Amino acid sequence: MRIDVLSIFPSYFDGLTLSLLGRARGAGILQLQVHDLRDWTSDRHRTVDDTPYGGGAGMVMKPEPWALALDDVTRDSARPTIVFPSPAGERFTQATARDLSTREHLVFGCGRYEGIDERVFDYAAELGEVRLISLGDYVLNGGEVATMAMIEAIGRLVPGVVGNPESLVEESHEDGLLEYPSYTKPSIWRDRAVPEVLLSGNHARIAQWRRDQQIERTRLRRPDLLPDGDA
Ligand code: ADE
Repeated sequence: MRIDVLSIFPSYFDGLTLSLLGRARGAGILQLQVHDLRDWTSDRHRTVDDTPYGGGAGMVMKPEPWALALDDVTRDSARPTIVFPSPAGERFTQATARDLSTREHLVFGCGRYEGIDERVFDYAAELGEVRLISLGDYVLNGGEVATMAMIEAIGRLVPGVVGNPESLVEESHEDGLLEYPSYTKPSIWRDRAVPEVLLSGNHARIAQWRRDQQIERTRLRRPDLLPDGDA
C-alpha cells in the first residue's frame, strides 16, 4: 500500500517510523511518504493561507499549493483515494479502516486554520475518490493527529503489518462489541483474584464467559453499539 501525506507540519509524522508501522515501512509493505505542502508554494514566504472571502475570523488555505501537490502525488496513480480529515466529515470507524485498508493508494490532505478553500475538494474529486472523514465529534487544530490515528488503524489491517493476524480478530469493534477483559499471572495479585472460570481449563465455559463479558461491557459503556441501544 502506498500512502502520501500532505501537511505543513511534516515532522508530526516522525513517530510513524517507530514500532509496528515502522517495521512495515522497512519491509516495504507500506510505502509512506510525508510531504511539506509549502514545497508547492512559489512566493518568498511560502504562503499557504489567506483571508476568507465574506469576512470572518481566521485564515483559509489557498487552493493553488493543494492543486499542485495533489497533481504531483497522484500522477502515477490509477485511482487514488484522497482523504481530508475534517470535523465536518463522515465518522471514522473500524469499518472505514477496513475499507481503506484495501486501497492501493491513499493520500491524506491535512488542513489547518479555518479550513481549505472549498474548490480544492472539487478539484481532488477529478483526481480520485474524495473522502472527508472525522475522527469524532470534537475539534482538533488540524488534520495531522487525525491522519496519524487513521494511518495506524488502517495500516495494522494491511496483510503482513501485524505479525499474528489472529490478534486482529478478538478486538473491540471487530464484531460490533467491546473486547472482553484480559488477565495474566499471578492468579492472585494484591488480594484480587482472576475470575475462576479462566483457570478452569473448560474452553466452552471460557468462551461463553468472554461473550457475556463483551455484551455486559458494551451495554454499560457503549449502549449505542447494541441493536436496541440509543444512537
Ligand atoms: N480536524 C480537526 N478536527 C478534526 C476531527 N475531529 N477529525 C478529523 N479531522 C479533524
